[in-house]
Amino acid sequence: MDSRIENYIRRGKFYVDGWLRSEAARIVVALNERQRSLGVTGGIAEIGVHHGKLFILLYLLSREPEKAVAIDLFEDQHLNIDQSGSGDLAKFRRNLERHADGTRLVLHQGNSMDLTGAILTRLAEGPLRFVSVDGGHTAEITAHDLATSEAAIAEGGVIVVDDVFNEQWPGVGDGVRRYFERRPNLVPFAIGANKTYFCRPSHRDIYHDAAAAAASTVTATEFLGQPVAFLQFLRPGLKDRVAESSAWRRLRTTAIGLPLRWAWHTARTLRRGVTRNEDF
Ligand SMILES: C[S@@+](CC[C@H](N)C(=O)[O-])C[C@H]1O[C@@H](n2cnc3c(N)ncnc32)[C@H](O)[C@@H]1O
Repeated sequence: MDSRIENYIRRGKFYVDGWLRSEAARIVVALNERQRSLGVTGGIAEIGVHHGKLFILLYLLSREPEKAVAIDLFEDQHLNIDQSGSGDLAKFRRNLERHADGTRLVLHQGNSMDLTGAILTRLAEGPLRFVSVDGGHTAEITAHDLATSEAAIAEGGVIVVDDVFNEQWPGVGDGVRRYFERRPNLVPFAIGANKTYFCRPSHRDIYHDAAAAAASTVTATEFLGQPVAFLQFLRPGLKDRVAESSAWRRLRTTAIGLPLRWAWHTARTLRRGVTRNEDF
């Protein structure tokens, strides 16, 4: 894996506020690699960027000339009717700059309810190969954003939806079911780490196997009448859980955090006799 991507998953993403488990990041990387090996190309997009936690990973996985379309209400938070996250353009730009050049960024500040597949395709300058749906969490917005995404993806494209099974956001699951009543040309293929993955029926088996290979345990189940893989992962170690916490992010460069990090590194080096490219 590209070292910038590995570094972002291991370290960088812990300093970007938002919602992206490392396990989900690994599935996204695995699907991206499968798309590359199949020769699937196209832009990436996220509806609902917040401060860029997942978007930065998608950006790092894309390459010239693929566009990376960031869609969010950003400064128009009065339109954020369900308060699902809170986009902030300045923070997003700062976070992206820290990890990528941003030359392929296409910024779209606006209500996703005003988007269509044609508009999204125009923003990305062609059909997309990866779209994340994580904007408004009501049933109406979710169904609308799925329709926009489905109309804009390439044949080998992937759509990933956050929170479909999150009890805090029942609207998302309702929106997905509502959308599938229209019998779209889309099937779910995997569920794991709070994300649900969809693609065209033609690519289901290929992406199912790629996602399953990134998980520790795979259970065959059904969703929307389709076979899907439920992906599970070994529980993250104490270090990863501490590194993910906001308390540690505030402490790590202070007079308390710095000696703790030094002690952890020293103990680790003595125990293993090696220094690996790892930090927390
Ligand atoms: C849960 S957050 C996104 C988290 C992000 N994907 C991450 O990686 O951390 C939801 C985002 O959707 C945005 N949003 C909410 N309703 C929206 C709408 N109708 N159109 C566009 N963006 C919306 C919010 O401003 C917020 O930034």
